[in-house]
Amino acid sequence: MQNLGIAITGSGSAVPATSLENQRLSELVETSDEWITSRTGIRQRRIALPPESLSGLATIASRQAISAAGITPADLDLILLATSTPDDLFGSACKIQAELGATKAVAFDLTAACSGFVFGLVTAAQYIKTGVYQNVLLIGADILSRWVDWQDRRTCVLFGDGAGAVVLQANQSDRLLGFSLKSDGTQNHYLNLAYNGSSQELIPGINVTKGTYEPITMNGKEVYRFAVQRVPEVIDKALFQANLSVDQIDWLILHQANQRILNAVAQRLNIPDHKVISNVANYGNTSAASIPLALDEAVRQGKIKPNDIIATSGFGAGLSWGAAIFQWGR
Ligand code: UT7
Repeated sequence: MQNLGIAITGSGSAVPATSLENQRLSELVETSDEWITSRTGIRQRRIALPPESLSGLATIASRQAISAAGITPADLDLILLATSTPDDLFGSACKIQAELGATKAVAFDLTAACSGFVFGLVTAAQYIKTGVYQNVLLIGADILSRWVDWQDRRTCVLFGDGAGAVVLQANQSDRLLGFSLKSDGTQNHYLNLAYNGSSQELIPGINVTKGTYEPITMNGKEVYRFAVQRVPEVIDKALFQANLSVDQIDWLILHQANQRILNAVAQRLNIPDHKVISNVANYGNTSAASIPLALDEAVRQGKIKPNDIIATSGFGAGLSWGAAIFQWGR
């Protein structure tokens, strides 16, 4: 009989070698360790220096996840890369496929900003639940330092670089217990990494657009308000679908944007601090990488154990947000 459930059977992560502490940022913009720590909980972030690349970090994280799952790259049917900062705008998933030697796998990128990992998890699960694929590698990776305006103190103190990965496998019982995904494009203007081009005449009568992507812009207050309201709602929805109550959650792993958001969401849901996984102090906001990075650290520290129930939620540009409830391991 075909296994149409899914299990998350391995995780991995990788961050660049170079740390950038809050104090050093005051050499760039008018800020302080005190401001950054009290408003965000961030103390340092990792920054990818050349020749570190997105596909390089993602490949290291992937190898760990594949080995933890007890399979080989040749077993993979699908590689999904959730990122907004590929090395190549055409996508970086195929490069990772080649690096891994995952010859059988089809590979493509998925863009959903800081919601990318949760959107990717649900997307990957659909391929398994329909019986099409058995082994899927899902990567969340971002190098936002490439796209930060280092003169804008409202954003440059927040972001960091990293990669995380998980392997999803067909399983007899379904460990993805519930999910809910949401988008609201009417609020798109609150967080952007937008293309800005101007019209140039190619030949008489035909104009093309020439330009580049502009650095990240964000209305921090609006995004904060959105996150604190929408994230508890969407977790509640996913819990309802899973037929579980809040007290049955063992771990809450939110997108690591800001410690104050983590605290506010946990408080609204009535989840005690000791169940909230946080590593935002060490890595800042690593966008699509933040959830798998936090998950992998907690698994390797022995906090998360087989059968633990995890509630996760990603939120950010789009605006987009989503939650998934899953049980760790087979
Ligand atoms: O992954 C995507 C999701 N993104 C997020 O989750 C971000 C959500 N938003 C936030 O986390 C918060 O809004 C921030 C951390 C970005 C900002 O915190 P805040 O408490 O909302 O501060 P604020 O924007 O209201 O700024 C307060 C003051 C302002 O000065 P004035 O106008 O009161 O004189 C800012 O100019 O702090 C100033 N400020 C800074 N001061 C020192 C802003 N950035 C800095 C800075 N250092 N880096």
